[in-house]
Amino acid sequence: MAKSAVYRILLTGATRGLGRALFEKFIALGHTVLGCGRAPEAITQLQQEWRPPHRFQMVDVANAKQVRQWSEKVLPEGAPDFLLNNAALMNRNARLWEVPAAEFDQLIDVNIKGVANVIRAFLPAMLARKKGVIVNFSSGWGRSTSPEVAPYCCSKWAIEGLSQALAQELPSGMAAIALNPGIIDTEMLRSCFGSSAAQYPSPEEWSEKAVPFLLGLGPRQNGGSLTVPT
Ligand SMILES: NC(=O)c1ccc[n+]([C@@H]2O[C@H](COP(=O)([O-])OP(=O)(O)OC[C@H]3O[C@@H](n4cnc5c(N)ncnc54)[C@H](OP(=O)(O)O)[C@@H]3O)[C@@H](O)[C@H]2O)c1
Repeated sequence: MAKSAVYRILLTGATRGLGRALFEKFIALGHTVLGCGRAPEAITQLQQEWRPPHRFQMVDVANAKQVRQWSEKVLPEGAPDFLLNNAALMNRNARLWEVPAAEFDQLIDVNIKGVANVIRAFLPAMLARKKGVIVNFSSGWGRSTSPEVAPYCCSKWAIEGLSQALAQELPSGMAAIALNPGIIDTEMLRSCFGSSAAQYPSPEEWSEKAVPFLLGLGPRQNGGSLTVPT
């Protein structure tokens, strides 16, 4: 996409971690951010700090009705130029057969079905303009595996397949991309790496390269399985 344009950027999982670092830079560059998360205090604080045209809303992406209601609120002001499916959960470190069914179900509901819910609600408005980029956050564990993170791995492998199939459905001028952000010191990383997460970049450091990389994505990257450069 053209570098000087002002974009509407829809971002799930804006309350902390990578989402938070991304949106602060997007806003600093003059773009409009439409963000969501579940934590009520965090969303209230974001709403007070960032006034319209930015919009932050409490939405659980696993809840198709909440996602649809979110789209009904923000789409009348315009379709997103970028749809960033960033929100996700990590399972507590455990061997697959020790992961409780409820935890497995919740992870799949957020990491896979949540992405489909957001695409179902927002993509038709983007298709109407035949314009826009969908970025589904994958992982190194969407292309490789490790023990004790099987639920997360299978959800991110699913994101790779979902993104490639979606890319084959889009008209020219649009893109669907699976993006491995790299390894960044967030709450999610700390939950599986423990204290060694601290040796990786902070979300703010990571976003210095991630933001221009994301904003540079366009139709030529459709179907890509990409990684944020380090
Ligand atoms: N950090 C890494 O090293 C790394 C590596 C590879 C891939 N990734 C991927 O990068 C993305 C961001 O990860 P992160 O490290 O920033 O994770 P994080 O620190 O755990 O943040 C996750 C974000 O997602 C939101 N979220 C979780 N469930 C949600 C739901 N059901 N509905 C709406 N929002 C929800 C959380 O907010 P609430 O709690 O307020 O809902 C939070 O804002 C994820 O897709 C992750 O799989 C991260």
